[in-house]
Amino acid sequence: MASQLGDWIASAPSTLQKNLTILSPDQIEVAKMLLDIGQTHVFEHWPEPGIDDDEKKAFLDQVTRLNTSYPGGLVSYVQNARRLLSDSKAGKNPFDGFTPSVPSGEILTFGDDNFLMMEEAGIREARNAAFVLVAGGLGERLGYNGIKLALPSESTTGTCFLQRYIESILALQEASRRLVQGQSATQIPLVIMTSDDTHERTLKLLESNSYFGMIPSQVKLLKQEKVACLDDNDARLAVDPHNKYRIQTKPHGHGDVHSLLYSSGLLSVWHDAGLKWVLFFQDTNGLLFKAIPASLGVSSTKQYHVNSLAVPRKAKEAIGGITKLTHTDGRTMVINVEYNQLDPLLRATGSPDGDVNCETGYSPFPGNINQLILELDSYIEELKKTQGAIPEFVNPKYKDSSKTSFKSSTRLECMMQDYPKTLPPSARVGFTVMDTWLAYAPVKNNPEDAAKVCLFTLRDKGLLFRVLIP
Ligand code: UTP
Repeated sequence: MASQLGDWIASAPSTLQKNLTILSPDQIEVAKMLLDIGQTHVFEHWPEPGIDDDEKKAFLDQVTRLNTSYPGGLVSYVQNARRLLSDSKAGKNPFDGFTPSVPSGEILTFGDDNFLMMEEAGIREARNAAFVLVAGGLGERLGYNGIKLALPSESTTGTCFLQRYIESILALQEASRRLVQGQSATQIPLVIMTSDDTHERTLKLLESNSYFGMIPSQVKLLKQEKVACLDDNDARLAVDPHNKYRIQTKPHGHGDVHSLLYSSGLLSVWHDAGLKWVLFFQDTNGLLFKAIPASLGVSSTKQYHVNSLAVPRKAKEAIGGITKLTHTDGRTMVINVEYNQLDPLLRATGSPDGDVNCETGYSPFPGNINQLILELDSYIEELKKTQGAIPEFVNPKYKDSSKTSFKSSTRLECMMQDYPKTLPPSARVGFTVMDTWLAYAPVKNNPEDAAKVCLFTLRDKGLLFRVLIP
């Protein structure tokens, strides 16, 4: 057997060697790959053949799925993880060499002539748009066990978020048809990205409500896969604490939406159907569709490749700021910079006061609400280069300052809004600011934490005189 399968067997743990006879050639290849990337420990507890054989095979099947669902497979995943974990241990700042400045964008005032003009332009364009809802998140901060899309978006009628979204898209579809006389009726496509945590319940919610009025073929569900958890700085795969024959997995983040859309082939279908825009949005923002028409109007009027929807943001407020970053080597990008990174970055690059309010009473860096409008052709061009892979990050919680061990396993993550990071300098990346009351009311935190956030916000804004919490 050893000469047939190669020298690697000699160095394999004896627990794996003994079990080779129960594995298929494909499963043996997967086992070899794990050894090649330094994951010997996952076999160390394997008992003699005849004990738990089905579980051992199921383990290698799971590893095969983890391998095929990540661009470049587990070899790349572990390589990327080692690099990012080493940077994190060294305290490397991802913004080293970059200077922040305020990008250009559109600030809309609800109801004025410009707003109405943008809104009409947006309604006209809506027939050329596809909507993508990212709804694979666990909602851990909310502490709710169901899917967030099934939560009521308001308490008068109890209409759930998914119904509100679908009815809004259908209303936009009808308004666009009426405005663009003489054009045939269109069906605006809706894609919902789900995960193992949300897929079945999202499908059930749609099916048991006749897709809330959409034609079933108008809605496509794309399920994101989780990624392997990591136990240490060497990127050793974490064995599931509940089943020693599984790798522990966690969500990779909403950045997966770009690679899923790319691999689904839907972007080409939309391109061939003459669509021009892809609008990304999240699972619990009941106000969003009030802001969509005017924002889409801004995208089309200004011919933005990327348009980030934003709200006014007080300096240092706990919401990311849309920022232009210019590197000493000439690179530039317009992206979201988290609030806790923006202030120190400004201070380190010639703005000693950091993030401060300007004459408007707000920070000049608009608050990112993570709803994006991408122009389809340039999106397709970019994804042909990247296959939709988004720059990742890792956020381990270290046990102590030596940064040698973690409190619990970690994993690589990626964010939808980091898409502009790889764009060429010619890309037109801007933003559209709307009033918060018009555009943004997400459901993120459980009542206790929400009350704390509210207290902090009131205090920050100088509005807190006396608040009694029962
Ligand atoms: P959130 O930041 O609200 O994260 O996601 P979350 O995972 O839902 O909630 P927490 O952090 O556990 O409390 C923003 C949007 O991205 C989606 C969510 O469903 C939400 O619409 N999302 C998040 C995904 O689709 N996939 C992910 O892996 C993470």
